[in-house]
Amino acid sequence: MLLQITLFGAVVAAMTKPTWGQAKLDCQDKCGNVSIPYPFGMTDNCYYNEDFLITCNETFNPPKPFLGDGNIPITNISINGQLHVMHYVAEDCYDQFGRREHLNNPWISFDKLRVSSTENKFTAIGCDTYANITGYKDNKSYVSGCMLTCSSMDYISNGSCSGIGCCQISIPEGLNSIEVAVNSYKNHKEVWNFNPCSYAFVMEEDKFNFSSANLSNLRNVTELPMVIDWAIWNVTCEVAKNSSEYACMKNSMCYNVHNGAGYGCRCLEGYRGNAYLPDGCQDIDECEEGLNQCTMICTIPRDITHVLVLRGTTGMVENMVMAACVIDHRFRTLREIMNQGMREVITVTISVLLLGGSWLYWGFRQRKIIKLREKFFEQNGGIMLQQNLPKFDTDPNGTIKLFEIFTEECLKKATNDYHESRILGQGGHGTVYKGIFPDEVVAIKKSKIGDKSEIEQFINEVIILSQINHTNIVKLRGCCLETQVPLLVYEFVNNGTLYDHLHTRSHHSSPITWENRLRIATETAEVLSYLHSSANTHIIHRDIKSNNILLDDKYTAKVSDFGASRLFPTDQTQLTTLARKKERNLAAFFVSSMKEDRLFDIVHEHVMNEEKAEQLKEVAILAKRCLEVKGDERPTMKEVAIKLEGLRMMEKHSWANDNRNSKHTQDLIGDLSDACGDGASSSSISAACDSMTNHAISPLDDGR
Ligand SMILES: *[C@@H]1O[C@H](CO)[C@@H](O)[C@H](O)[C@H]1NC(C)=O
Ligand SMILES: *[C@@H]1O[C@H](CO)[C@@H](O)[C@H](O)[C@H]1NC(C)=O
Ligand SMILES: *[C@@H]1O[C@H](CO)[C@@H](O)[C@H](O)[C@H]1NC(C)=O
Ligand SMILES: *[C@@H]1O[C@H](CO)[C@@H](O)[C@H](O)[C@H]1NC(C)=O
Ligand SMILES: *[C@@H]1O[C@H](CO)[C@@H](O)[C@H](O)[C@H]1NC(C)=O
Ligand SMILES: *[C@@H]1O[C@H](CO)[C@@H](O)[C@H](O)[C@H]1NC(C)=O
Ligand SMILES: *[C@@H]1O[C@H](CO)[C@@H](O)[C@H](O)[C@H]1NC(C)=O
Ligand SMILES: *[C@@H]1O[C@H](CO)[C@@H](O)[C@H](O)[C@H]1NC(C)=O
Ligand SMILES: *[C@@H]1O[C@H](CO)[C@@H](O)[C@H](O)[C@H]1NC(C)=O
Ligand SMILES: *[C@@H]1O[C@H](CO)[C@@H](O)[C@H](O)[C@H]1NC(C)=O
Ligand SMILES: *[C@@H]1O[C@H](CO)[C@@H](O)[C@H](O)[C@H]1NC(C)=O
Repeated sequence: MLLQITLFGAVVAAMTKPTWGQAKLDCQDKCGNVSIPYPFGMTDNCYYNEDFLITCNETFNPPKPFLGDGNIPITNISINGQLHVMHYVAEDCYDQFGRREHLNNPWISFDKLRVSSTENKFTAIGCDTYANITGYKDNKSYVSGCMLTCSSMDYISNGSCSGIGCCQISIPEGLNSIEVAVNSYKNHKEVWNFNPCSYAFVMEEDKFNFSSANLSNLRNVTELPMVIDWAIWNVTCEVAKNSSEYACMKNSMCYNVHNGAGYGCRCLEGYRGNAYLPDGCQDIDECEEGLNQCTMICTIPRDITHVLVLRGTTGMVENMVMAACVIDHRFRTLREIMNQGMREVITVTISVLLLGGSWLYWGFRQRKIIKLREKFFEQNGGIMLQQNLPKFDTDPNGTIKLFEIFTEECLKKATNDYHESRILGQGGHGTVYKGIFPDEVVAIKKSKIGDKSEIEQFINEVIILSQINHTNIVKLRGCCLETQVPLLVYEFVNNGTLYDHLHTRSHHSSPITWENRLRIATETAEVLSYLHSSANTHIIHRDIKSNNILLDDKYTAKVSDFGASRLFPTDQTQLTTLARKKERNLAAFFVSSMKEDRLFDIVHEHVMNEEKAEQLKEVAILAKRCLEVKGDERPTMKEVAIKLEGLRMMEKHSWANDNRNSKHTQDLIGDLSDACGDGASSSSISAACDSMTNHAISPLDDGR
């Protein structure tokens, strides 16, 4: 498969990140190739206490660090409480006549460190072998071991330590001293040609992969990697917190170690760095460095159909877990992709390798956070979303943007932590904030989610909007599911709602022109008609009102808020919908005004004018038809759209030069709705049609 993952800027971000473990100020932070993070140090005042002394032997090239002033070489120090060291292999070797050539049974002992029980395994290798390990835990000892015989190499399998030629045993927690001993039954006489020695060692499990070749090729290996747990000896967090020696610094937390006695420190969620240094834990903030480092694009080539753009990261990791590519109609998390071993996916670029590395590293630390986010992801309908996302056609340029998955941090930053000054509007479904990214402005809706049905509404909106691409419908740019309440990110429509324009006119220097009003009504009717008749499903908005019609700077109508919308298969006729009180009031008022021939009373007197009266009448007749109780007596939204379009043409031709009059007529429909005093609008006709149609009076009502 030609699948490719391209990461814009992510590489840069990974490279410019601060190093994980730093030394104390003015202290040497490296010995040869090995970083020495505080609390470890190589000279007085550079380590926390003498337990953390490291000796750097410069006679080696590169110089080699040793634990304390002893002879245990250190290969890596992890700030998470682990030391990687090298430890000797126990071996017992013979010549072809059964004479012992070499015997070594090594031991290792620590005062305040513990052999890691989670990372290491005791391993014995040989075909004429018995080996044992003696462990000490505060002077109490235990012995465990393996015996191995095998007469040929034939049935030894590679890749796993199965018991034939190789045996592995877990080691218990709390060991501060171990001895490994090995011996043979028959001096390897019968197996000498393929296995002249017996071996035993305690080794980092992940680094060992058994091969039949090891029966002979371990001969020249004297040391193997082992993991040691370290901690601040030997009090618990509760006691340590009270003392002046407390090692955990700002923005960090203390944990009690389970392997031995003592505690350790780690940075709080949202921070990373060295928790043992003052100001060692740094706020994570990739968004700050600009768009690129905030964005990761998962590009799927032409022959596949979806693209998902991912913005923002806490380490790219959490993002990746949440991240998903839609492939073959399916939504897949990157983790899923990785787990499936889709190597083709992963092999592509070095950036991906970097990412993979950081993913593994963070995987250990961040498991909990990820779990929580996964929980929210699920809770917030991520799964439902996965199952319902539609297939998209690619455009000729190769790919299209489906939508972005934003991280929590990124949105928080874009809205200045959901600052009051960023609130664009508040409504039944939630609060809308203005979000500012370096490259664009968006609107972010923080949904109010109480129960499951509201989650469904939320997902509903995502699914519906992700299926529609229409200039008169507000574009969904993405979402964030990691938070307790899901967040939706829309294109920012910069001229407010129609409601604002009609009812808070003082804020706007000039009222919307009649032409624009008629166009807004037409566009609304057209887009509703489009929704009602789209190919596979009917989409019924069910909540059209001036508050939900946004305007851009050219007064283009953009229908928003699809939370209450529903998808219906085209063959479904029975619709159940919301009955909205507002529209019913308006409807009743309007119909009675028509009946009593008082239509013109509800419009400002100065609007009166022969031609406009004609226009108004047309609009009113149309509106009245929309308010018919019986579904089949009402025009379809398509008819409404056509009729309004016709009126618009007429207006263009006959009123083009009538500036004096049109100035008054501008307010015609707005005034009509003002008179009704009910938030109705120039789209009230469309609205009335849309909502009335849904009252399901006729079983044959198909979204008129
Ligand atoms: C250590 O660093 C030297 C250069 O300073 C490099 O040549 C060598 O490969 C490194 N060794 C390891 C094990 O990273
Ligand atoms: C450094 O290592 C060499 C070789 O193993 C040893 O002879 C020497 O004593 C060590 N130096 C220190 C300061 O430990
Ligand atoms: C040391 O460990 C850190 C993380 O624990 C890892 O990123 C780094 O690659 C390791 N270095 C070596 C030389 O193994
Ligand atoms: C362990 O045994 C040694 C020698 O027998 C003794 O010196 C030491 O105090 C003992 N340690 C503990 C913790 O009992
Ligand atoms: C196991 O791997 C070794 C090389 O590492 C190879 O010589 C041997 O044939 C392999 N054995 C089996 C059973 O695959
Ligand atoms: C272990 O080695 C075998 C070949 O000897 C290889 O096929 C397998 O992928 C290796 N496994 C790991 C985890 O490295
Ligand atoms: C462990 O193995 C060594 C070497 O073969 C042997 O001397 C010792 O008795 C064994 N220990 C136990 C407890 O069996
Ligand atoms: C075991 O043999 C394989 C194949 O030759 C080798 O790559 C590996 O390093 C050996 N294992 C150890 C612990 O030396
Ligand atoms: C071990 O090293 C010696 C020389 O030091 C070499 O002759 C021999 O072939 C090596 N054995 C293995 C199994 O690599
Ligand atoms: C902690 O260490 C002190 C002195 O090193 C010792 O007296 C005390 O018994 C230790 N406590 C525990 C729980 O090991
Ligand atoms: C901490 O210190 C205060 C005052 O020294 C003392 O009252 C309190 O009991 C101590 N708490 C613990 C857990 O030791």
